[in-house]
Amino acid sequence: MQNPAIQVENIAYSYSNGEPVLHDISFRLNPGERVALMGPTGSGKSTLLENLIGLKQPSKGKIIINDILLEQKTLAEVRRYIGFAFQDAKDQLFMPTILEDVTFGPLNYGVPAPEAKDIARQLLIDFGLEAYAKRSAHELSGGQRRLAALAGILALKPDILILDEPTNGLDPAWRRNLAQILLKLPVKVILVASHDLNWLSRVTERALVISSGRIHLDRDIQSLLKDSETLENLGLPVGW
Ligand SMILES: Nc1ncnc2c1ncn2[C@@H]1O[C@H](COP(=O)(O)OP(=O)(O)O)[C@@H](O)[C@H]1O
Ligand SMILES: [Mg+2]
Repeated sequence: MQNPAIQVENIAYSYSNGEPVLHDISFRLNPGERVALMGPTGSGKSTLLENLIGLKQPSKGKIIINDILLEQKTLAEVRRYIGFAFQDAKDQLFMPTILEDVTFGPLNYGVPAPEAKDIARQLLIDFGLEAYAKRSAHELSGGQRRLAALAGILALKPDILILDEPTNGLDPAWRRNLAQILLKLPVKVILVASHDLNWLSRVTERALVISSGRIHLDRDIQSLLKDSETLENLGLPVGW
């Protein structure tokens, strides 16, 4: 069996002001897996994802990405493998125009400018944003900003894709488009935090459910989706 793409062992995390948010989290994601990270609002999904990409450091335990232990000195190398979409797309867009935002990553990694621009233009077309290429992110709707941020992430051709509530602000047509784009991507692993059960069931196969700072459930998403009682008990009522 191949080594896991993401291996998390007994990590804990507390914000400086108090209660621990993550208690003792362990899981492995193997190459080829598409995984949902579920859990009620405030359960620690974003905190966990930010630990995985080294934006936050766990107080104990370890994280291994593509066989590399995540620590200060490996951070830049590990980040090169991971495309991460923040829950708030505004955190991801900072250039004067979204074309420059999407071009920024490839340029930064040494792709020649004309090629970087071609990659960016194609992604803006894929995400329906070609007419907005010269606008700044704050002149876009929330959903458009999210799509622009996703284009910027995919421009880096990540090996591992980690998305924090990617369907927020998207209409049904774009939720479907995004699912189709993600299903076609040649990435090793996708991990998506979301509450959007129906969408998750089309994009992912396995669900990790976090509750009170622990992984409460690790299960095939299709069977979980049919188990409304379990979902209700986990604070994830179906149909709302
Ligand atoms: N910067 C912060 N300082 C202190 N507590 C925080 C901060 N960010 C989040 N929290 C707390 O950590 C918990 C988990 O938050 P978060 O990871 O954002 O949850 P989720 O993404 O599942 O909604 C919440 O109780 C939240 O109030
Ligand atoms: Mg969150």
